[in-house]
Amino acid sequence: MEAPKYIQLNRTGRMSGDQRRRRVGIVGYGHLGQYLVKRLQDDGLRHGLELAFVWNRDARKLVGIVPEELQLGKLTDFLERRADVIIEVAHPCIVQDHGESFLKAADFMVGSPTALADLDTELKLRKAAREAGHTLYIPSGALWGGQDIQRLDDGGLLQALTVTMVKHPSSFRVGGHLGELAKGAQQERVVLYDGPVRRLCPLAPNNVNTMAAACMAAPSLGFDGVKGCLIADPNLPDYHVVEIDATGQGGFSVSTKRKNPAACGAVTGAATFAAFWSSLLVCQGHGGRVYLC
Ligand SMILES: NC(=O)c1ccc[n+]([C@@H]2O[C@H](COP(=O)([O-])OP(=O)(O)OC[C@H]3O[C@@H](n4cnc5c(N)ncnc54)[C@H](O)[C@@H]3O)[C@@H](O)[C@H]2O)c1
Repeated sequence: MEAPKYIQLNRTGRMSGDQRRRRVGIVGYGHLGQYLVKRLQDDGLRHGLELAFVWNRDARKLVGIVPEELQLGKLTDFLERRADVIIEVAHPCIVQDHGESFLKAADFMVGSPTALADLDTELKLRKAAREAGHTLYIPSGALWGGQDIQRLDDGGLLQALTVTMVKHPSSFRVGGHLGELAKGAQQERVVLYDGPVRRLCPLAPNNVNTMAAACMAAPSLGFDGVKGCLIADPNLPDYHVVEIDATGQGGFSVSTKRKNPAACGAVTGAATFAAFWSSLLVCQGHGGRVYLC
């Protein structure tokens, strides 16, 4: 397995002179994409990172904000920009349609891990990472203790994992049956879903990335074995709650509860933006495997 290529910082917190900067391609220029581009422009150099390109489905959104030479017109032209790491922060369909070609050329951080609930996509990306020696990075997002879960799973000790997410009804971007249930939660808490994460991901792709990250951290259980419980609660106007319950052999158990401040109606909690930046800093190349960052 390839050794991680960590950036060495000198005493002033800058890279040593002989190291090449890692080039970062950003796919998607919504809330997360804009945040990451700004952080890269403001702080990238001192972390040994530079922008390789920014792509957005609607290219007009980039005009006048992202320097022209960094705008990528056609996503299939990404190879020309020689990115070392590509970050998807757009939509699960980008992971499904382009993830494999990204991994053949670069490390790839999947911002929308609900895409991996599609078994073909998960297997295809795992294989591409293995064969190319590039890393498939899964950002922890709002998942607390993801690496502990991964270690437990690696050791064959994890027996069950449940992720419960509670948000204000206005924070859900769901249609169909779940949408109707969420609308009905104006006065009291309503359980929208309780069952395997695999079936929930296509129903609420924007709301359950944390659950999908947990499934990738625990491959022995995976999307069929990890349970997800999604709850709409009108009494949570300014934060989201994420609860993790893990059980292991010999009576072992861990329960955590995270309160993630979020503006009313926001799909993404405020702390998740900074968490994404920290995740990007970890993406230094960990060889051909899946890595929770
Ligand atoms: N891993 C996590 O914890 C986590 C946290 C928050 C958001 N996310 C995911 O990251 C992605 C971006 O989140 P955001 O808050 O920046 O969303 P956003 O809605 O603010 O931005 C999404 C961007 O992607 C583009 N887009 C939408 N649908 C597209 C499609 N079908 N093809 C190509 N481009 C498309 C939009 O034009 C927009 O520029 C979403 O998929 C979201 O679910 C993950």
